[in-house]
Amino acid sequence: MSNKTIRNLFLAAACLAAAACGGPKRPSTVGTTPEVERRVEQILAQMTLAEKIGQMNQVSADGGVDNYAEAVRRGQIGSVLNVVDPEKINEMQRIAMEESRLAIPLLVGRDVIHGFHTVFPIPLGLAATFDPALVEEGARVAAVEATAQGVRWTFSPMLDIARDPRWGRMAEGSGEDTWLDARMGEAMVRGYQGAQWDTTAMAACIKHFVGYGAAEGGRDYNSTFLTENQLRNVYLPPFEAAVKAGALTLMTSFNDNDGVPSTGNRFIVKDILRDEWGFDGLVVTDWNSMGEMVSHGYGADRREVARQALDAGVDMDMMTFGFITHLEELVRAGEVRESAIDDAVRNILRVKILLGLFEHPYVDAAAAETVQYAPEHLDAARRTAEESAVLLKNDGVLPLDAGRVRTILVTGPMADAPHDQLGTWSFDGQKQHTVTPLAALRERFPGRVIYVPGLKDSREQRARFDDVVAAARRADVVLAFLGEEAILSGEAHSLADLNLKGSQSELLAALQATGKPVVATVMAGRPLTVERDLPHCGAMLYSFHPGTMGGPALANLIFGDATPSGKTPVTFLRTVGQVPMYYSHNMTGRPYRGEKLLDEIGPEAGQTSLGNTSYYLDYGAYPLFPFGYGLSYTTFAYTEPSLDKAVYGRDDVVRAACTLTNTGARPGTEVVQVYVRDLVGSFTRPVKELKHFERVALQPGESRRVEVEIPVSALAFWGADGTKKVEPGDFQLWLAGDSASGEPLAFKVE
Ligand code: NOJ
Repeated sequence: MSNKTIRNLFLAAACLAAAACGGPKRPSTVGTTPEVERRVEQILAQMTLAEKIGQMNQVSADGGVDNYAEAVRRGQIGSVLNVVDPEKINEMQRIAMEESRLAIPLLVGRDVIHGFHTVFPIPLGLAATFDPALVEEGARVAAVEATAQGVRWTFSPMLDIARDPRWGRMAEGSGEDTWLDARMGEAMVRGYQGAQWDTTAMAACIKHFVGYGAAEGGRDYNSTFLTENQLRNVYLPPFEAAVKAGALTLMTSFNDNDGVPSTGNRFIVKDILRDEWGFDGLVVTDWNSMGEMVSHGYGADRREVARQALDAGVDMDMMTFGFITHLEELVRAGEVRESAIDDAVRNILRVKILLGLFEHPYVDAAAAETVQYAPEHLDAARRTAEESAVLLKNDGVLPLDAGRVRTILVTGPMADAPHDQLGTWSFDGQKQHTVTPLAALRERFPGRVIYVPGLKDSREQRARFDDVVAAARRADVVLAFLGEEAILSGEAHSLADLNLKGSQSELLAALQATGKPVVATVMAGRPLTVERDLPHCGAMLYSFHPGTMGGPALANLIFGDATPSGKTPVTFLRTVGQVPMYYSHNMTGRPYRGEKLLDEIGPEAGQTSLGNTSYYLDYGAYPLFPFGYGLSYTTFAYTEPSLDKAVYGRDDVVRAACTLTNTGARPGTEVVQVYVRDLVGSFTRPVKELKHFERVALQPGESRRVEVEIPVSALAFWGADGTKKVEPGDFQLWLAGDSASGEPLAFKVE
C-alpha cells in the first residue's frame, strides 16, 4: 500500500471516528480524532486568558533564544522560528515542559523551502521536473534533516501562482499554472508531513494566502487586484488541493487584494478557508503582516489590526506582537469574544498534539548530525537537479562525447559559485557542501579542465575577455555557466530587466566567435530573457538554481549520463515588455491570427482582418518558449490521438489516448501533457488549461500507448452564477509535449 493510500485511510478513519463520537461534524482536514479533541479541550479548560493568548504568539529567536526564556516560562510564547540549534531547541522545550505551568511544548518553525542542509533545486526547478513523486521524496528528505534538529514546522510550500518573472519570489513557487502548482503543493505536503505522524513529521505551511504572486508591476509586497473569478479559478485551487492533502497550517499574505489586506480578510480566511473548505489547522500571519495593516492604512494602530486579524480567522501572530499586547484588553473592553480566542487556541493545540510534540518535545542532539547530507539525500538532490534542467536549444552539440573532447574550458560566473547555485531561501545549506560544476568536472576529467572565470562579477564589472577567448582557442569545447546570483531572486528581490546581468551576453558572443562548440548553462531564479543569447551557443541548458548537487547533475547531463527531461513551468519571454504572458490566458475578442493560433479561434470566428488583433507591433504575439516546453537528447512523436467517446455526461471520465514513440537514437523521458479548452462558458474561459501530465520513459524506437483519464468533474469552474460546476457544451483536448503543440480533439459534455 502506498504512503498516500495509508494516509488517506487514516484520514477517513479519523473523520468517521470524530463524527461517531460527537466530534466535529464535518470531516477534519488535518485528520484530528475524538481523542485529540478531548485532549485539546482538557488543556484549554485549564488555561488562563493570558496563557491562551501566549499560545497565539510566535517570535523569532534569531536575536538569541535567551531573550525569550522568561516569556516561555510564563506561557507567553506558543511558537518560535529561526532557531535550528538542537541544543538550544531542547533547552527552550525543557523550559516549556518543565517550568511553564501547563507544560505545552513549543512549535519550532523555519523556512525549509527546498531542502534543509541538503539543498534541492529551488521550487521553480522542482516544478520543472513535472514529477510529484520525486518532489515528495525531496520534501521527505528535508523533513528528516530538519526534524532531527528539532524543527517541526516549515513555512513551505509556497503556492502563489506567478505570471510575472520580474517578481523575485517566482523562484519559490511552481510557476504560472494552477494544475501543476496544485500537484506540486500536494506532493510537498505529503513529503513534509509523512505518511503517519511520527517524529520526522514536519508540519507544512501553505502560503501566502492569497494572490501574493500577482503583485502589481512584479514589485514584491505590492497590491493585487484579483477578481473573485480569478481567485476561485486560478489562485485558490492549489490551496484547496493542499488543504485536502492534509496541510496542517497556512500563512496569510502581505498583499492587499482589491483594498483588503489578507491578514484581515474575513472573506478568504473565514468564509472560504474555514467555512467552505472546513480547514481545521492553524492559520499564522506572515512576518509582521498584521502590523503592516497599519502601513496599508487598513487599521489605525496595532490594537485595531489585532482585532481585525482575529476577526478574519488568524490564530497566530508572527512578529507583530499584536495579539500578546492587545488581545486581553480587547476582551475586557468587549471588542473581542473570548470564544474566538478559544477557537484559535484549539487550532494551535490540535497541530501540536497531532505532531506528537507533547510526547516528543526533545531531539537527540548528538544524533542530529548523522542524517545531514546523508548519501541517499545527496543522491535524491542530484537526481532532482537532473530532472529539473530544461534543454532549451540543442543544435547537436549535446551530449558531449567524453572520448572526443579532450580539453574542456569551464567559464562564467556560475561555474564555481557554491553559494549562488543553492538559490534563494537556503538558510541552512552550507556552501562547503555544494558541488559546483567546476568541482564536478575537475573530478571527472582530471587534468583536462581549463578554468578561466571570464567575469569577476556577473553584475557590473566589464570583463576582460582576452584570457577566456585565448583559453577557448586551446579547448575542444567551451562550457559557459551563466545566470544570476541567488540574491537576485527571492523575497524583496524583484527586477525590471530580465536579461543576463553584466557582461555575460558579451562573453558568450565572444566565445561563440572563436568557432569552438559552446554550451551555455544558465542557472537562475526565474526565466530570464535569453533570446539574444541563443544564437551565441550551440546548446542552452536551463537550470533553475539547482542546489547542493547541481554540479554533478549538470556534468551528467552535459556528458550524456543523464538526459534532459525537464519542462518549463513558466513561459519564457522574449522581452520583459511582454509581461504578463502565460499560456492559459483568456480568449480575447480579437485573437492574434498567426498560424499557431488559428485552431484557437475556431471555425465560427467572424474576423476577416489580420490587423487589429491582440499582439505587439514589435514583438508579435508569442513568447520565446511556451509553458511545458523542453527538449531531450532524443525526439518523440505523438500519433493517433483519440477519445473513447464524443459525448460525455457530467459524471463520466474522458479517456484519451495516443501512441508516443521515441523516434531518436537515445533513451529518454517525455512529459506528456493534456490540455483542455471549454469553448463557451458563462465567463470567458482560458484558451487552454493543463489537466493532466505524466512522465513516460521510452527506449529508442519504442512506442507506447499512453492512456489518460480526465474526470469530467475536473472541467468544472466557478461560473457567473457563483457556483462551481461543469457547464455543458463543446470542449477541445490536446495531448502534447508542450502547451503550444498538438491538434485538438473535440468532445461534448451534456
Ligand atoms: C516572510 C516571508 O514572506 C515568508 O514567506 C516567510 O515564511 C516568513 N518571512 C518567515 O521567515
